[in-house]
Amino acid sequence: MNFISPISPNLSQSLLTTTLHILTSLLLVSSSTTFKSDHDLSYIESSAFSKPDKNLSATISCVPIIPPPKINSDCETWSPECSKQVMEMAKKPEFVEWITKIRRQIHENPELAFEEHQTSQLVRDELVKLGIGFRFPLAITGIRATIGTGAPPYVALRADMDALPIQEAVEWEYKSKVAGKMHACGHDAHVAMVLGAAKILKSREKHLKGTVVVIFQPAEEAGNGAKKMIEDGALQDVEAIFAVHVSHQHLTGVIGSRPGPLLAGCGIFRAVITGKQGPAGNPHHSVDPILAASAAVISLQGIVSRESNPLDSQVVSVASFMGGDDLGMIADSVVLKGTLRAFSNTSFYQLMERIEQVIVNQANVFRCSATVDFFKKQSTIYPPTVNDNEMYEHVRKVASDLLGPANFRVVPPMMGAEDFSFYSEVVPAAFYYIGIMNETLGSTHTGHSPHFMIDEDVLPIGAATHAAIIERYLNEYHS
Ligand SMILES: *[C@@H]1O[C@H](CO)[C@@H](O)[C@H](O)[C@H]1NC(C)=O
Ligand SMILES: *[C@@H]1O[C@H](CO)[C@@H](O)[C@H](O)[C@H]1NC(C)=O
Ligand SMILES: *[C@@H]1O[C@H](CO)[C@@H](O)[C@H](O)[C@H]1NC(C)=O
Ligand SMILES: [Zn+2]
Ligand SMILES: [Zn+2]
Repeated sequence: MNFISPISPNLSQSLLTTTLHILTSLLLVSSSTTFKSDHDLSYIESSAFSKPDKNLSATISCVPIIPPPKINSDCETWSPECSKQVMEMAKKPEFVEWITKIRRQIHENPELAFEEHQTSQLVRDELVKLGIGFRFPLAITGIRATIGTGAPPYVALRADMDALPIQEAVEWEYKSKVAGKMHACGHDAHVAMVLGAAKILKSREKHLKGTVVVIFQPAEEAGNGAKKMIEDGALQDVEAIFAVHVSHQHLTGVIGSRPGPLLAGCGIFRAVITGKQGPAGNPHHSVDPILAASAAVISLQGIVSRESNPLDSQVVSVASFMGGDDLGMIADSVVLKGTLRAFSNTSFYQLMERIEQVIVNQANVFRCSATVDFFKKQSTIYPPTVNDNEMYEHVRKVASDLLGPANFRVVPPMMGAEDFSFYSEVVPAAFYYIGIMNETLGSTHTGHSPHFMIDEDVLPIGAATHAAIIERYLNEYHS
């Protein structure tokens, strides 16, 4: 997830300062709803599991205890017993050890966008060991694996594999071995949790009433890996998709999501306003781009304040204004740079159109010309991430049944951006958060901080949640 503007490395540093920790304080996490990590499944136990009558057990204590009948253990229709089976598998010590090891291996060897060669190799090695077939490569390092019947419905799970150009400041045994690179957004955990789900689903393949498509993508942080995965066929036949992001705003294992817009669409622009150089003392010999650019900056403020619905949050910020460095000379040109955000697809693309019109036309008013670049080719545009209402409801239902209703939160939208939005533009999608916050461990830092760390107890919980979302989807949406 992008906590700052997605940006190509060769653009001005000044744009990088647009940090987005805006809504942190709005997400209050109640300590009364701590996730009880070990087998907190009492709420789904049926009467068959209740303790025998004391008086009765005293009188017939010599009779062997009859195990409770396994109600619908074949999961022909989804039941609380199926949630329990999935969670029990994820909580097995061998499973926890395996998934933790995978996450640590990836954490120690972070790779940047489109360079995730070792990470991709590790994923493929594990898929081979699990007997899961896959297609490779998509988008250079990406993988599309499949589990299940090979027939519809097809439902997808997605993990992002890339790390960030950040030097890890956390001193621990499995610290990044690569100077200046770090999994500071938790994508190492995302890969481990999706692989964990794949392992659980493979072991439950006979229960699957359709096909799981497991997507491992490159370049979420920069370069729109998701877009290239889609171009390479990642979503072929897929009718719905789910993904998770770790969040330091929730206690370990707490799930958060919301229907509709979840994360903003995010873009950047660079405008060049060109006039004609001339002596500042005789301005009539020049065409002044400083005046034209100034008028453009003022007019840009009118887009959000006058044209957009006040209930539909949008942002246009000019963050850089550069032109001229000679006190006696009017400059040739001015370069404006800035960012835009919006929560609906329509508003996002409308903003881009209006930013261009306003800058070009204001330049014309003062006899200048202008061009506006949104860096579409460099893939710096992230559309808004919008959850499908029905898919959101599926996640809420699965998480509440698996982890208890107290461990599910409806969260407010955030101004950050995610390239999962490209999938959500194509098929019904739901993106959710899973908490990694544990004050004892110190996993309280935001993504993209050099101090970022996760509570690894999240890994089996995330794997089980993903697996239950998928198996239950196929169970309830087949036919
Ligand atoms: C157990 O038996 C005693 C005596 O027969 C009775 O008073 C008591 O209510 C019984 N307890 C339960 C839990 O049924
Ligand atoms: C969003 O708008 C763009 C540009 O108009 C369009 O290409 C895309 O399909 C739209 N996506 C959705 C989900 O409406
Ligand atoms: C936080 O981590 C500590 C140490 O691993 C653990 O004992 C505790 O249960 C964790 N707390 C939560 C809320 O998960
Ligand atoms: Zn991320
Ligand atoms: Zn990120």
